[in-house]
Amino acid sequence: MTTNISIFKKELKKWYANNRRSFSWRNTNNPWKILLIETLSQQTQLERANRYYEQFIDKYPTPKHMANDSKKQILKLWSGLGYNNRAMRLHETSKIVAKTGFDNLYPDFTVLPGVGPYTNSALLSFAYGEKVIAVDTNIKRILQRFFKIKDKDIKNFLQVNQDTFLRRFESRDFNQALMDLGATVCRSKNPKCVICPLEKSCNKFITKNSQIQPKFEGSFRQKRGVVLKILLSKDNVTKNVIQKELEATSEITLRVLDSLEKDNLIKITKNKYIVINDK
Ligand code: ADE
Repeated sequence: MTTNISIFKKELKKWYANNRRSFSWRNTNNPWKILLIETLSQQTQLERANRYYEQFIDKYPTPKHMANDSKKQILKLWSGLGYNNRAMRLHETSKIVAKTGFDNLYPDFTVLPGVGPYTNSALLSFAYGEKVIAVDTNIKRILQRFFKIKDKDIKNFLQVNQDTFLRRFESRDFNQALMDLGATVCRSKNPKCVICPLEKSCNKFITKNSQIQPKFEGSFRQKRGVVLKILLSKDNVTKNVIQKELEATSEITLRVLDSLEKDNLIKITKNKYIVINDK
């Protein structure tokens, strides 16, 4: 298990160095900023939440600014996000921390309205540098798949292995690397195993909440994998190059390329080159 954890950490670190998503709040340890982005990103895609974040932090740079504003103004800025009572709880929280300060609540922020175990861990990791795994759905899913952990065993697995995961790995980086990997590669549905840095040692464990196709099933999927491998290692790849490598007919090659394009894994450039779609 420990060997697997060290492979997991090594590959994850390498991947994150080249693929991390960049946001202003990623370089801060200001708990108000962390609380804002974590609250805004619940049930909302991170890029979208970030657009709201920029407006919120502009208008409410400190909890006091929000505490002194009206519910109506906060709801106005919140508009479009849904779950309006989350905005109300955030307002209440701003009043408490404006008076008490985050540091006086540390290390238990769950007394704040709207702050549960996840947000508490996120605050401890991102704002206070604590060696804590902020277990959100992405992190849980990746660990369960890679290490083959059943739902009922994940809590214990995390308790036993948290220190090993976070030894010589900043918790901020560990948590955000997994959140990014979960959002872009090891997705709940249609995970992109062929481009996953952890694929080689992954158990690809199927739980009822995370359906993954077992290994390569049949030649079409296999061909898709071959195409992606070609594109990852070569430049200026045309359809003919791929057809040759696949040893397939023109029609089958087109079908494979079509399906990859539909899944946003590849795109065709103006010059008719086929490339990995990084978006
Ligand atoms: N989702 C919620 N918080 C996040 C973070 N800090 N990084 C990536 N995804 C997130």
